[in-house]
Amino acid sequence: MPAIAIIGAQWGDEGKGKATDLLGDRVDYVVKFNGGNNAGHTVVIGQPDGSSEKYALHLLPSGILSPGCTPVIGNGVVIDLAVLFQELDALVERGIDVSRLKVSANAHVIADYNRTLDKVTERFLGSRRIGTTGRGIGPTYADKMNRVGIRIQDIFDEKILRQKVEGVLDLKGQVLTKIYNRRPATVDETVEELRAYAERLAPMVCDTGLVLNQALDRGETVLLEAGQATLLDVDHGTYPFVTSSSATSGGACTGSGIPPTRLEQVIGIVKAYTTRVGEGPFPTELFDDHGEHLRKVGAEYGTTTGRPRRCGWYDAVIARYAARVNGVTDFVLTKLDVLTGLEKVPVCVAYDVDGVRHDEMPVNQSDFHHAVPIYEHLDGWWEDISEARTFADLPVNAQRYVEAVEEMSGARISAVGVGPSRAATVVRHELI
Ligand code: GDP
Ligand code: IMO
Ligand code: MG
Repeated sequence: MPAIAIIGAQWGDEGKGKATDLLGDRVDYVVKFNGGNNAGHTVVIGQPDGSSEKYALHLLPSGILSPGCTPVIGNGVVIDLAVLFQELDALVERGIDVSRLKVSANAHVIADYNRTLDKVTERFLGSRRIGTTGRGIGPTYADKMNRVGIRIQDIFDEKILRQKVEGVLDLKGQVLTKIYNRRPATVDETVEELRAYAERLAPMVCDTGLVLNQALDRGETVLLEAGQATLLDVDHGTYPFVTSSSATSGGACTGSGIPPTRLEQVIGIVKAYTTRVGEGPFPTELFDDHGEHLRKVGAEYGTTTGRPRRCGWYDAVIARYAARVNGVTDFVLTKLDVLTGLEKVPVCVAYDVDGVRHDEMPVNQSDFHHAVPIYEHLDGWWEDISEARTFADLPVNAQRYVEAVEEMSGARISAVGVGPSRAATVVRHELI
Protein backbone atom coordinates (compact mmCIF):
# COMPACT_ATOMS: atom_id res chain seq x y z
CA MET A 1 0.00 0.00 0.00
CA PRO A 2 1.12 3.56 -0.60
CA ALA A 3 2.28 6.52 1.39
CA ILE A 4 -0.27 9.36 1.40
CA ALA A 5 0.40 12.97 2.39
CA ILE A 6 -2.04 15.44 3.90
CA ILE A 7 -0.91 19.03 3.42
CA GLY A 8 -2.35 22.48 4.10
CA ALA A 9 -3.08 24.41 0.90
CA GLN A 10 -3.34 27.91 2.41
CA TRP A 11 -1.78 29.57 5.50
CA GLY A 12 -2.62 26.82 8.00
CA ASP A 13 -5.64 25.87 10.12
CA GLU A 14 -7.48 24.45 7.12
CA GLY A 15 -8.67 21.41 9.12
CA LYS A 16 -5.77 19.00 8.65
CA GLY A 17 -6.44 17.45 12.06
CA LYS A 18 -10.03 16.59 11.17
CA ALA A 19 -8.99 15.15 7.79
CA THR A 20 -6.29 13.01 9.40
CA ASP A 21 -8.77 11.75 11.96
CA LEU A 22 -11.25 10.97 9.19
CA LEU A 23 -8.72 8.62 7.58
CA GLY A 24 -7.13 7.39 10.83
CA ASP A 25 -9.14 4.15 10.95
CA ARG A 26 -7.95 3.17 7.49
CA VAL A 27 -4.21 3.69 7.91
CA ASP A 28 -1.51 1.90 9.89
CA TYR A 29 0.84 4.82 10.61
CA VAL A 30 0.33 8.59 10.92
CA VAL A 31 3.54 10.61 10.75
CA LYS A 32 4.18 14.21 11.70
CA PHE A 33 7.04 15.23 9.43
CA ASN A 34 7.64 18.96 10.00
CA GLY A 35 7.21 21.78 12.49
CA GLY A 36 6.69 21.35 16.20
CA ASN A 37 4.33 22.73 18.80
CA ASN A 38 3.63 25.79 16.65
CA ALA A 39 0.90 23.61 15.09
CA GLY A 40 -2.57 23.30 16.57
CA HIS A 41 -4.79 20.58 15.11
CA THR A 42 -8.30 20.24 16.48
CA VAL A 43 -10.11 16.94 16.34
CA VAL A 44 -13.75 16.61 17.38
CA ILE A 45 -14.94 13.06 17.96
CA GLY A 46 -18.68 12.41 18.24
CA GLN A 47 -19.73 10.10 21.09
CA PRO A 48 -22.49 7.46 21.01
CA ASP A 49 -24.63 9.61 23.39
CA GLY A 50 -24.59 12.53 20.94
CA SER A 51 -22.00 14.59 22.85
CA SER A 52 -18.54 15.20 21.46
CA GLU A 53 -14.95 15.12 22.71
CA LYS A 54 -12.58 17.83 21.50
CA TYR A 55 -8.79 17.39 21.36
CA ALA A 56 -6.18 20.03 20.47
CA LEU A 57 -2.93 18.43 19.32
CA HIS A 58 0.29 20.39 18.90
CA LEU A 59 3.30 18.13 18.77
CA LEU A 60 1.62 14.77 18.36
CA PRO A 61 0.20 13.60 15.03
CA SER A 62 -3.61 13.49 15.06
CA GLY A 63 -3.42 9.74 14.34
CA ILE A 64 -2.66 9.21 18.03
CA LEU A 65 -6.43 9.33 18.57
CA SER A 66 -7.12 6.42 16.19
CA PRO A 67 -6.90 3.08 18.00
CA GLY A 68 -4.77 0.63 16.04
CA CYS A 69 -2.79 3.31 14.26
CA THR A 70 0.87 3.90 15.15
CA PRO A 71 1.76 7.60 15.59
CA VAL A 72 5.24 8.67 14.54
CA ILE A 73 7.22 11.88 15.06
CA GLY A 74 9.58 12.00 12.10
CA ASN A 75 13.12 13.33 11.67
CA GLY A 76 11.87 16.63 10.20
CA VAL A 77 10.15 17.69 13.44
CA VAL A 78 11.55 19.91 16.21
CA ILE A 79 10.57 18.62 19.64
CA ASP A 80 10.00 20.52 22.86
CA LEU A 81 10.33 17.59 25.26
CA ALA A 82 8.36 19.20 28.09
CA VAL A 83 5.46 19.81 25.70
CA LEU A 84 5.68 16.27 24.34
CA PHE A 85 5.25 14.73 27.78
CA GLN A 86 2.59 17.25 28.85
CA GLU A 87 0.58 16.33 25.76
CA LEU A 88 1.06 12.61 26.28
CA ASP A 89 0.07 12.84 29.97
CA ALA A 90 -3.05 14.86 29.14
CA LEU A 91 -4.15 12.22 26.61
CA VAL A 92 -3.48 9.35 29.02
CA GLU A 93 -5.68 11.14 31.56
CA ARG A 94 -8.46 11.13 28.98
CA GLY A 95 -8.07 7.39 28.40
CA ILE A 96 -6.09 7.48 25.14
CA ASP A 97 -3.51 4.74 24.63
CA VAL A 98 -0.27 6.50 23.65
CA SER A 99 2.04 3.52 24.09
CA ARG A 100 2.68 2.99 20.37
CA LEU A 101 4.28 6.41 19.78
CA LYS A 102 7.62 6.30 17.93
CA VAL A 103 10.06 9.19 17.84
CA SER A 104 12.87 9.65 15.33
CA ALA A 105 16.40 9.54 16.76
CA ASN A 106 17.26 12.28 14.25
CA ALA A 107 14.56 14.81 15.18
CA HIS A 108 15.95 17.99 16.75
CA VAL A 109 15.10 19.29 20.21
CA ILE A 110 14.02 22.77 21.21
CA ALA A 111 16.00 24.01 24.21
CA ASP A 112 15.35 26.98 26.47
CA TYR A 113 17.81 29.29 24.65
CA ASN A 114 15.87 28.84 21.41
CA ARG A 115 12.52 29.67 22.98
CA THR A 116 14.10 32.79 24.46
CA LEU A 117 15.73 33.76 21.16
CA ASP A 118 12.44 33.39 19.29
CA LYS A 119 10.73 35.83 21.65
CA VAL A 120 13.51 38.40 21.87
CA THR A 121 14.18 38.52 18.13
CA GLU A 122 10.48 39.14 17.47
CA ARG A 123 10.57 42.04 19.94
CA PHE A 124 13.78 43.31 18.34
CA LEU A 125 12.24 43.18 14.83
CA GLY A 126 9.38 45.46 15.93
CA SER A 127 7.26 46.36 12.91
CA ARG A 128 9.20 43.84 10.80
CA ARG A 129 8.26 40.93 13.10
CA ILE A 130 6.93 37.63 11.67
CA GLY A 131 4.30 37.12 14.37
CA THR A 132 5.72 33.72 15.34
CA THR A 133 4.14 31.44 17.90
CA GLY A 134 7.12 32.07 20.20
CA ARG A 135 7.79 28.35 20.62
CA GLY A 136 11.46 28.44 19.51
CA ILE A 137 10.74 26.87 16.12
CA GLY A 138 12.78 29.22 13.88
CA PRO A 139 15.96 29.31 16.02
CA THR A 140 15.92 25.51 16.39
CA TYR A 141 15.70 24.96 12.62
CA ALA A 142 18.41 27.59 12.19
CA ASP A 143 20.65 25.54 14.52
CA LYS A 144 19.87 22.44 12.47
CA MET A 145 20.94 24.15 9.25
CA ASN A 146 23.97 25.67 10.98
CA ARG A 147 24.90 22.14 12.08
CA VAL A 148 24.91 23.01 15.77
CA GLY A 149 21.52 21.50 16.64
CA ILE A 150 20.85 18.97 19.39
CA ARG A 151 19.19 15.76 18.22
CA ILE A 152 17.06 13.28 20.15
CA GLN A 153 19.84 10.67 20.01
CA ASP A 154 22.29 13.09 21.68
CA ILE A 155 20.24 13.08 24.87
CA PHE A 156 21.20 9.52 25.71
CA ASP A 157 24.95 10.17 25.88
CA GLU A 158 25.61 12.77 28.56
CA LYS A 159 29.19 13.41 27.40
CA ILE A 160 28.19 14.11 23.81
CA LEU A 161 25.17 16.13 24.91
CA ARG A 162 27.35 18.31 27.16
CA GLN A 163 29.87 18.89 24.35
CA LYS A 164 27.13 19.92 21.93
CA VAL A 165 25.36 22.16 24.41
CA GLU A 166 28.68 23.83 25.29
CA GLY A 167 29.35 24.41 21.58
CA VAL A 168 26.00 25.97 20.81
CA LEU A 169 25.76 27.99 24.04
CA ASP A 170 29.21 29.43 23.42
CA LEU A 171 27.69 31.40 20.57
CA LYS A 172 24.07 31.77 21.66
CA GLY A 173 25.05 32.80 25.18
CA GLN A 174 26.99 35.73 23.74
CA VAL A 175 24.09 36.75 21.50
CA LEU A 176 21.58 36.55 24.34
CA THR A 177 23.67 38.46 26.87
CA LYS A 178 25.40 41.01 24.66
CA ILE A 179 22.66 41.84 22.18
CA TYR A 180 19.46 41.07 24.01
CA ASN A 181 20.57 41.55 27.61
CA ARG A 182 19.14 38.16 28.66
CA ARG A 183 20.78 35.64 30.94
CA PRO A 184 20.70 32.32 29.08
CA ALA A 185 20.34 28.97 30.82
CA THR A 186 23.77 27.56 31.73
CA VAL A 187 25.26 24.43 30.17
CA ASP A 188 24.43 22.48 33.35
CA GLU A 189 20.82 23.71 33.39
CA THR A 190 20.35 22.89 29.71
CA VAL A 191 21.87 19.41 30.00
CA GLU A 192 19.69 18.78 33.03
CA GLU A 193 16.57 20.06 31.23
CA LEU A 194 17.11 17.69 28.31
CA ARG A 195 18.35 14.68 30.32
CA ALA A 196 15.28 14.86 32.56
CA TYR A 197 13.26 13.13 29.84
CA ALA A 198 15.80 10.50 28.76
CA GLU A 199 14.33 7.57 30.65
CA ARG A 200 10.75 8.07 29.50
CA LEU A 201 11.85 8.88 25.99
CA ALA A 202 14.20 5.94 25.40
CA PRO A 203 11.62 3.22 24.57
CA MET A 204 9.99 5.44 21.91
CA VAL A 205 13.14 6.34 20.01
CA CYS A 206 14.08 4.45 16.86
CA ASP A 207 15.04 4.73 13.19
CA THR A 208 11.56 5.83 12.10
CA GLY A 209 12.58 6.00 8.41
CA LEU A 210 13.42 2.30 8.53
CA VAL A 211 10.21 1.42 10.42
CA LEU A 212 8.06 3.30 7.89
CA ASN A 213 9.72 1.86 4.80
CA GLN A 214 9.43 -1.66 6.23
CA ALA A 215 5.74 -1.02 6.90
CA LEU A 216 5.27 0.04 3.28
CA ASP A 217 7.14 -3.11 2.15
CA ARG A 218 4.63 -5.17 4.15
CA GLY A 219 1.77 -3.48 2.30
CA GLU A 220 0.70 -1.18 5.13
CA THR A 221 -0.54 2.38 4.66
CA VAL A 222 1.37 5.40 5.94
CA LEU A 223 -0.29 8.80 6.25
CA LEU A 224 2.00 11.83 6.46
CA GLU A 225 0.34 14.73 8.28
CA ALA A 226 1.74 18.21 7.68
CA GLY A 227 1.92 20.96 10.21
CA GLN A 228 1.48 24.51 8.84
CA ALA A 229 0.83 24.84 5.12
CA THR A 230 2.06 25.62 1.61
CA LEU A 231 2.06 29.42 1.97
CA LEU A 232 3.98 29.07 5.26
CA ASP A 233 6.60 26.72 3.73
CA VAL A 234 10.13 28.12 4.02
CA ASP A 235 10.78 27.61 0.26
CA HIS A 236 7.37 27.99 -1.33
CA GLY A 237 5.56 30.29 1.07
CA THR A 238 5.30 34.06 1.44
CA TYR A 239 8.91 34.40 2.64
CA PRO A 240 9.96 35.84 5.08
CA PHE A 241 6.47 35.60 6.60
CA VAL A 242 6.67 31.83 6.84
CA THR A 243 7.57 29.14 9.33
CA SER A 244 11.05 27.60 9.18
CA SER A 245 10.23 24.11 7.90
CA SER A 246 9.13 22.34 4.71
CA ALA A 247 5.38 21.97 5.01
CA THR A 248 4.78 20.79 1.44
CA SER A 249 4.72 17.25 0.00
CA GLY A 250 8.47 17.41 -0.68
CA GLY A 251 8.94 18.01 3.04
CA ALA A 252 6.81 14.93 3.73
CA CYS A 253 9.61 12.88 2.15
CA THR A 254 12.64 14.62 3.65
CA GLY A 255 10.92 14.87 7.02
CA SER A 256 10.07 11.17 7.22
CA GLY A 257 12.66 9.26 5.19
CA ILE A 258 10.02 7.98 2.78
CA PRO A 259 11.18 8.44 -0.82
CA PRO A 260 9.08 10.46 -3.32
CA THR A 261 8.54 7.34 -5.46
CA ARG A 262 6.45 5.82 -2.63
CA LEU A 263 4.13 8.80 -2.29
CA GLU A 264 1.04 7.99 -4.35
CA GLN A 265 -1.52 10.47 -3.16
CA VAL A 266 -1.37 14.04 -1.91
CA ILE A 267 -4.49 15.34 -0.20
CA GLY A 268 -4.65 19.13 -0.03
CA ILE A 269 -6.78 20.58 2.75
CA VAL A 270 -8.32 23.89 1.74
CA LYS A 271 -10.84 26.02 3.61
CA ALA A 272 -13.91 27.35 1.75
CA TYR A 273 -12.54 30.80 2.65
CA THR A 274 -9.06 31.86 3.80
CA THR A 275 -7.43 32.60 7.16
CA ARG A 276 -3.98 33.59 8.31
CA VAL A 277 -2.38 34.06 11.75
CA GLY A 278 0.65 36.31 12.21
CA GLU A 279 2.06 38.90 9.84
CA GLY A 280 2.51 38.88 6.05
CA PRO A 281 0.62 39.52 2.82
CA PHE A 282 -2.93 38.21 2.38
CA PRO A 283 -4.64 39.56 -0.77
CA THR A 284 -8.23 38.55 0.02
CA GLU A 285 -8.13 39.70 3.65
CA LEU A 286 -11.33 41.42 4.79
CA PHE A 287 -11.31 44.37 7.18
CA ASP A 288 -15.08 44.86 7.18
CA ASP A 289 -18.13 43.16 8.70
CA HIS A 290 -17.69 40.18 6.37
CA GLY A 291 -14.28 39.42 7.94
CA GLU A 292 -15.78 39.70 11.42
CA HIS A 293 -18.66 37.44 10.32
CA LEU A 294 -16.29 34.70 9.06
CA ARG A 295 -14.22 34.92 12.27
CA LYS A 296 -17.30 34.62 14.44
CA VAL A 297 -19.16 31.91 12.55
CA GLY A 298 -15.97 29.95 11.78
CA ALA A 299 -14.65 30.37 15.38
CA GLU A 300 -11.39 31.56 13.86
CA TYR A 301 -9.14 31.90 16.88
CA GLY A 302 -5.73 30.18 16.99
CA THR A 303 -5.62 26.69 18.53
CA THR A 304 -2.07 27.34 19.75
CA THR A 305 -1.90 31.01 20.69
CA GLY A 306 -5.58 31.99 20.86
CA ARG A 307 -4.92 34.92 18.50
CA PRO A 308 -7.84 36.03 16.30
CA ARG A 309 -7.20 34.71 12.78
CA ARG A 310 -7.25 37.18 9.90
CA CYS A 311 -10.10 36.19 7.56
CA GLY A 312 -10.80 36.62 3.84
CA TRP A 313 -12.52 35.08 0.83
CA TYR A 314 -11.41 31.95 -1.03
CA ASP A 315 -8.36 32.55 -3.18
CA ALA A 316 -8.20 30.21 -6.19
CA VAL A 317 -4.78 31.55 -7.21
CA ILE A 318 -3.14 30.19 -4.08
CA ALA A 319 -5.16 26.96 -4.29
CA ARG A 320 -3.85 26.40 -7.84
CA TYR A 321 -0.36 27.21 -6.63
CA ALA A 322 -0.70 24.68 -3.79
CA ALA A 323 -2.01 22.07 -6.24
CA ARG A 324 1.09 22.60 -8.41
CA VAL A 325 3.74 22.78 -5.67
CA ASN A 326 2.44 19.70 -3.86
CA GLY A 327 1.08 17.63 -6.75
CA VAL A 328 -2.33 17.59 -5.06
CA THR A 329 -4.41 14.61 -6.22
CA ASP A 330 -7.48 15.40 -4.09
CA PHE A 331 -8.68 18.44 -2.22
CA VAL A 332 -10.79 18.34 0.93
CA LEU A 333 -12.79 21.59 1.02
CA THR A 334 -13.49 22.38 4.70
CA LYS A 335 -15.90 24.64 6.56
CA LEU A 336 -18.38 25.11 3.72
CA ASP A 337 -21.05 25.42 6.45
CA VAL A 338 -19.47 28.70 7.58
CA LEU A 339 -20.45 30.32 4.26
CA THR A 340 -24.17 29.57 4.73
CA GLY A 341 -26.40 32.64 4.78
CA LEU A 342 -24.49 34.97 2.45
CA GLU A 343 -26.30 36.61 -0.47
CA LYS A 344 -23.21 36.38 -2.71
CA VAL A 345 -19.93 34.57 -2.07
CA PRO A 346 -16.91 36.22 -3.69
CA VAL A 347 -14.07 33.99 -4.93
CA CYS A 348 -10.74 35.44 -6.03
CA VAL A 349 -9.88 34.11 -9.50
CA ALA A 350 -6.79 36.22 -10.31
CA TYR A 351 -4.89 39.29 -9.09
CA ASP A 352 -4.50 42.76 -10.47
CA VAL A 353 -0.96 43.98 -9.82
CA ASP A 354 -0.48 47.59 -10.87
CA GLY A 355 -2.86 47.14 -13.81
CA VAL A 356 -1.52 43.75 -14.93
CA ARG A 357 -3.62 40.58 -14.51
CA HIS A 358 -1.88 37.64 -12.79
CA ASP A 359 -3.49 34.21 -13.01
CA GLU A 360 -0.55 32.62 -11.20
CA MET A 361 1.22 33.60 -7.96
CA PRO A 362 3.51 36.56 -8.74
CA VAL A 363 7.11 35.48 -8.26
CA ASN A 364 8.11 38.87 -6.93
CA GLN A 365 7.32 39.45 -3.25
CA SER A 366 6.45 43.13 -3.73
CA ASP A 367 3.96 42.22 -6.46
CA PHE A 368 2.25 39.80 -4.07
CA HIS A 369 2.07 42.56 -1.44
CA HIS A 370 0.34 44.79 -4.02
CA ALA A 371 -1.97 42.09 -5.43
CA VAL A 372 -5.60 43.23 -5.60
CA PRO A 373 -8.06 40.33 -5.91
CA ILE A 374 -10.25 40.02 -8.99
CA TYR A 375 -13.48 38.46 -7.73
CA GLU A 376 -16.19 36.33 -9.24
CA HIS A 377 -19.40 36.59 -7.18
CA LEU A 378 -21.16 33.25 -6.75
CA ASP A 379 -24.73 32.87 -5.50
CA GLY A 380 -25.11 32.00 -1.83
CA TRP A 381 -27.46 29.61 -0.01
CA TRP A 382 -29.49 29.85 3.20
CA GLU A 383 -30.25 26.25 4.10
CA ASP A 384 -28.45 24.61 7.06
CA ILE A 385 -26.00 22.18 5.43
CA SER A 386 -24.50 20.66 8.59
CA GLU A 387 -26.53 17.46 8.21
CA ALA A 388 -25.62 16.96 4.53
CA ARG A 389 -23.80 13.67 3.95
CA THR A 390 -23.98 13.30 0.16
CA PHE A 391 -23.36 15.88 -2.54
CA ALA A 392 -27.03 15.72 -3.50
CA ASP A 393 -27.98 16.76 0.06
CA LEU A 394 -26.34 20.16 -0.51
CA PRO A 395 -28.51 23.04 -1.81
CA VAL A 396 -27.91 23.65 -5.48
CA ASN A 397 -25.98 26.90 -4.95
CA ALA A 398 -23.66 25.18 -2.47
CA GLN A 399 -23.08 22.45 -5.06
CA ARG A 400 -22.31 25.13 -7.63
CA TYR A 401 -19.87 26.79 -5.24
CA VAL A 402 -17.99 23.50 -4.79
CA GLU A 403 -17.97 22.83 -8.54
CA ALA A 404 -16.83 26.36 -9.39
CA VAL A 405 -14.03 26.27 -6.82
CA GLU A 406 -12.99 22.81 -8.06
CA GLU A 407 -12.84 24.07 -11.64
CA MET A 408 -10.54 26.93 -10.58
CA SER A 409 -8.28 25.11 -8.13
CA GLY A 410 -6.43 22.49 -10.15
CA ALA A 411 -7.56 19.20 -8.57
CA ARG A 412 -10.81 17.41 -7.80
CA ILE A 413 -12.60 18.13 -4.52
CA SER A 414 -13.13 14.69 -3.05
CA ALA A 415 -14.68 15.64 0.28
CA VAL A 416 -16.44 18.66 1.74
CA GLY A 417 -16.55 19.56 5.44
CA VAL A 418 -19.90 20.76 6.76
CA GLY A 419 -19.11 20.80 10.49
CA PRO A 420 -16.28 20.15 12.97
CA SER A 421 -17.02 16.50 13.74
CA ARG A 422 -15.79 13.54 11.71
CA ALA A 423 -19.33 12.64 10.61
CA ALA A 424 -20.00 16.13 9.23
CA THR A 425 -18.39 15.36 5.89
CA VAL A 426 -19.73 14.97 2.37
CA VAL A 427 -17.62 12.39 0.53
CA ARG A 428 -17.68 12.68 -3.27
CA HIS A 429 -14.81 10.26 -4.03
CA GLU A 430 -13.41 7.81 -1.46
CA LEU A 431 -10.05 9.22 -0.34
CA ILE A 432 -8.25 5.92 0.31
P1 GDP B 1 -5.47 22.43 11.33
O1 GDP B 1 -4.38 23.18 12.02
O2 GDP B 1 -5.34 22.44 9.84
O3 GDP B 1 -5.63 21.01 11.86
O4 GDP B 1 -6.81 23.19 11.67
P2 GDP B 1 -7.28 23.76 13.11
O5 GDP B 1 -7.71 22.60 13.95
O6 GDP B 1 -6.27 24.69 13.67
O7 GDP B 1 -8.51 24.67 12.69
C1 GDP B 1 -9.61 24.15 12.04
C2 GDP B 1 -10.87 24.37 12.92
O8 GDP B 1 -12.02 24.15 12.13
C3 GDP B 1 -10.97 23.38 14.07
O9 GDP B 1 -11.58 24.05 15.14
C4 GDP B 1 -11.88 22.29 13.52
O10 GDP B 1 -12.61 21.61 14.54
C5 GDP B 1 -12.81 23.08 12.65
N1 GDP B 1 -13.32 22.38 11.45
C6 GDP B 1 -12.68 21.51 10.63
N2 GDP B 1 -13.46 21.19 9.57
C7 GDP B 1 -14.62 21.88 9.73
C8 GDP B 1 -15.82 22.01 8.96
O11 GDP B 1 -15.97 21.44 7.89
N3 GDP B 1 -16.79 22.87 9.45
C9 GDP B 1 -16.63 23.55 10.61
N4 GDP B 1 -17.61 24.37 11.00
N5 GDP B 1 -15.52 23.45 11.36
C10 GDP B 1 -14.53 22.64 10.93
P1 IMO C 1 -1.22 24.49 11.85
O1 IMO C 1 -0.45 23.20 11.72
C1 IMO C 1 -1.31 28.82 11.29
C2 IMO C 1 2.53 30.90 11.61
C3 IMO C 1 2.73 31.87 12.78
C4 IMO C 1 3.67 32.87 12.13
C5 IMO C 1 4.55 32.00 11.24
C6 IMO C 1 5.90 31.66 11.87
O2 IMO C 1 -2.15 24.53 13.01
O3 IMO C 1 -1.88 24.85 10.55
P2 IMO C 1 6.61 29.99 13.82
O4 IMO C 1 6.24 29.96 15.26
O5 IMO C 1 6.25 28.73 13.07
O6 IMO C 1 8.04 30.39 13.57
O7 IMO C 1 5.71 31.20 13.19
O8 IMO C 1 3.81 30.82 10.98
N1 IMO C 1 2.14 29.54 11.99
C7 IMO C 1 0.91 29.04 11.81
N2 IMO C 1 -0.23 29.62 11.37
N3 IMO C 1 -1.31 27.50 11.61
C8 IMO C 1 -0.17 26.90 12.02
O9 IMO C 1 -0.08 25.57 12.21
C9 IMO C 1 1.00 27.68 12.19
N4 IMO C 1 2.26 27.42 12.59
C10 IMO C 1 2.95 28.56 12.46
O10 IMO C 1 1.52 32.45 13.18
O11 IMO C 1 2.94 33.74 11.28
MG1 MG D 1 -4.14 24.75 13.36
